[in-house]
Amino acid sequence: METRETKPVIFLFPFPLQGHLNPMFQLANIFFNRGFSITVIHTEFNSPNSSNFPHFTFVSIPDSLSEPESYPDVIEILHDLNSKCVAPFGDCLKKLISEEPTAACVIVDALWYFTHDLTEKFNFPRIVLRTVNLSAFVAFSKFHVLREKGYLSLQETKADSPVPELPYLRMKDLPWFQTEDPRSGDKLQIGVMKLLKSSSGIIFNAIEDLETDQLDEARIEFPVPLFCIGPFHRYVSASSSSLLAHDMTCLSWLDKQATNSVIYASLGSIASIDESEFLEIAWGLRNSNQPFLWVVRPGLIHGKEWIEILPKGFIENLEGRGKIVKWAPQPEVLAHRATGGFLTHCGWNSTLEGICEAIPMICRPSFGDQRVNARYINDVWKIGLHLENKVERLVIENAVRTLMTSSEGEEIRKRIMPMKETVEQCLKLGGSSFRNLENLIAYILSF
Ligand code: UDX
Repeated sequence: METRETKPVIFLFPFPLQGHLNPMFQLANIFFNRGFSITVIHTEFNSPNSSNFPHFTFVSIPDSLSEPESYPDVIEILHDLNSKCVAPFGDCLKKLISEEPTAACVIVDALWYFTHDLTEKFNFPRIVLRTVNLSAFVAFSKFHVLREKGYLSLQETKADSPVPELPYLRMKDLPWFQTEDPRSGDKLQIGVMKLLKSSSGIIFNAIEDLETDQLDEARIEFPVPLFCIGPFHRYVSASSSSLLAHDMTCLSWLDKQATNSVIYASLGSIASIDESEFLEIAWGLRNSNQPFLWVVRPGLIHGKEWIEILPKGFIENLEGRGKIVKWAPQPEVLAHRATGGFLTHCGWNSTLEGICEAIPMICRPSFGDQRVNARYINDVWKIGLHLENKVERLVIENAVRTLMTSSEGEEIRKRIMPMKETVEQCLKLGGSSFRNLENLIAYILSF
């Protein structure tokens, strides 16, 4: 039997945001189950709970980050982490490589753009995990052309015009980031592109059968091996890499609801909304008369602790027909027989988790790849509805009713079933993700 000493070791460097930690830890479990030893290098900021992963080795590096609240936006946190981790990460990796005779490679999240020159520096293979899907990846990769052509300014004036370089997208679907300083978003794009192009390979939590054209496009732009091996969360039931505690009472509440009756609402781990939008969603959900389970993460509403701005008696008057929690065990919620619809911000993890359970969606994207995903959900795959205009209670109420109780909703539900099946097939013997994982493992062992 192989021991820790003889097993090939993979070093993983997850980016410390929820939507990035989850896929990286799922990936870690996939490799562990295939006989690799796993060492996770992590920051102090949003450090993972190592006790949930006793089978991995954890190494912490100092990040010297200021209080997260002191940054104007998440992109600035991202840049600061990238500049402050250069020396600690370099020292750490150097030490680990020298101590592990069976060190195979390092897998970094694409947001760690500062690691672009490490391969040459240490003569050590560096693979990148890109947590978005291929459609968003291709859109991001054309960033320089789109910027040169001035499409950013057309987002307001020509929002519905098609983007010639990206057949399925309109100007308003382009994956820009709202930053205080536009140069900050550009710096991120340029850094990530450089990292990806200089890598030994790129791993996606994506399914090539769903995005064949985009994979062909990506191959032209990125002449490094690309491995689509998603959906990660379907390989092994991973321990939780959640930064917030899951409220498990969601599941017993769902047990009491009728099959396919509940609309589950969550806007992910980063997006935030203003007070008025929060109240419109609250009334829209309530007025729809469908049971709802709503994740209101602390920090979701600008300047508020939690749900204190709900009118007095709002919760009591629901008489158990609605439940609001701070954080839910989302994959279990989506897999529950009572869940019938998903009001989502369209982060790729959430979208994929929804597809895997054949749950139709109502899209309320915020930034980045979420807009691309919303466009695909609504107009390309046709497995959801898109809230494109101002979010008002009547709009929410109608969207929920349409999705959950109308014949249009039934059609949407029918269309998502074959997608779920495609995803299931790809993991089976001979399926695309199955094959790509085999190739990836052989590739890593060849280093
Ligand atoms: C961010 C970006 O918004 C997204 O577009 C990008 O693809 C990844 O990074 P995030 O807001 O974190 O993503 O959303 P998402 O990608 O959907 O990931 C959220 C994760 O948190 C999911 O795995 C989901 O299962 C989990 N989650 C969410 C919970 O465990 N509980 C919750 O209550 C809500």
